[in-house]
Amino acid sequence: MSSSGTTTARLLPGAPVAEQVLAEVAGSVVALRAAGVTPALATVLVGDDDASAGYIRIKQRQAAELGFVSPHVHLSASASQADLHAVLADFNADKAVHGVLVQYPIPGHLDYDRALAELDPDKDVDGMHPVNMGRLALGLPGPLPCTPAGIEALLAFHGVPVAGREVVILGRGATLGRPLAMLLAQKRPTANAAVTVVHTGVPDWPRYTRRAEILVAAAGVPGIIQPEHVRPGGVVVGGGVRYEGRRLLPDVDESCAEVAGAITPRVGGVGPTTVAMLFRNAVRAAQRASGLG
Ligand SMILES: NC(=O)c1ccc[n+]([C@@H]2O[C@H](COP(=O)([O-])OP(=O)(O)OC[C@H]3O[C@@H](n4cnc5c(N)ncnc54)[C@H](OP(=O)(O)O)[C@@H]3O)[C@@H](O)[C@H]2O)c1
Repeated sequence: MSSSGTTTARLLPGAPVAEQVLAEVAGSVVALRAAGVTPALATVLVGDDDASAGYIRIKQRQAAELGFVSPHVHLSASASQADLHAVLADFNADKAVHGVLVQYPIPGHLDYDRALAELDPDKDVDGMHPVNMGRLALGLPGPLPCTPAGIEALLAFHGVPVAGREVVILGRGATLGRPLAMLLAQKRPTANAAVTVVHTGVPDWPRYTRRAEILVAAAGVPGIIQPEHVRPGGVVVGGGVRYEGRRLLPDVDESCAEVAGAITPRVGGVGPTTVAMLFRNAVRAAQRASGLG
């Protein structure tokens, strides 16, 4: 809001993007079922964290609405790394299971990255398996990391041109900044950008963000992006968030809307697109596995 109480930037909500992607997924599920394939997205929950259990329930409900079946395994909080790997090995071997989602976070004594590496990369609906990161780096087909893919879809849906423009990403994390940089630099009409990545190793990062035609916040530091870091009229995408309990604290300060030309809303921006991409990865995994892609 400006001092006069008005937001000047155009809002870029994620919900309509997610709706469009999920409608496509639902159509693909119908086609798969008509061909005798029941898409299956397996879910794994470890421990008794209420928030994680809630997230899994939401995804299972959405999976059912879209026409997936969702075999589910709930391991106790005391499960060992070997127990988790055994569940993943079973899902890897099961030809009727096309995608597997291990709800993050898992209890602290377990290593999520090691578990992820055990998963069949073709069943990795998060798109975070090292093989899938390698495929992304090489431009090979495979599941894409959900949040970066969601951001590309969000920009395309809202008609924000990316090709040939300068994109600056604050953050080089494995979930968001690094894969997004690879994705938006690819030679495709909705990418093809000049991408710059800044981080703590670039203390004068505002020098770069201020010239960004598209600025993506991917740091996970609440309020790190202030109006003085934004190019007037530029596009601002808020990817980074931190949760304090149930409170969501975004990287992008609300006042950036006074300077930006277009901006994702504080709530309901990138998040909904991330979940939609998970289902897109799942249905594509089913298509590939059944040769119907
Ligand atoms: N909206 C969604 O649906 C969604 C989904 C997934 C993730 N996320 C969010 O995306 C964010 C990034 O996640 P991630 O796992 O990719 O990243 P990460 O591993 O947490 O890394 C954060 C990055 O930000 C940089 N950074 C942190 N503080 C900084 C500062 N003061 N100045 C400059 N750079 C700074 C770090 O620099 P160094 O590398 O130099 O340490 C690092 O590259 C998180 O907030 C996460 O919650 C959102």
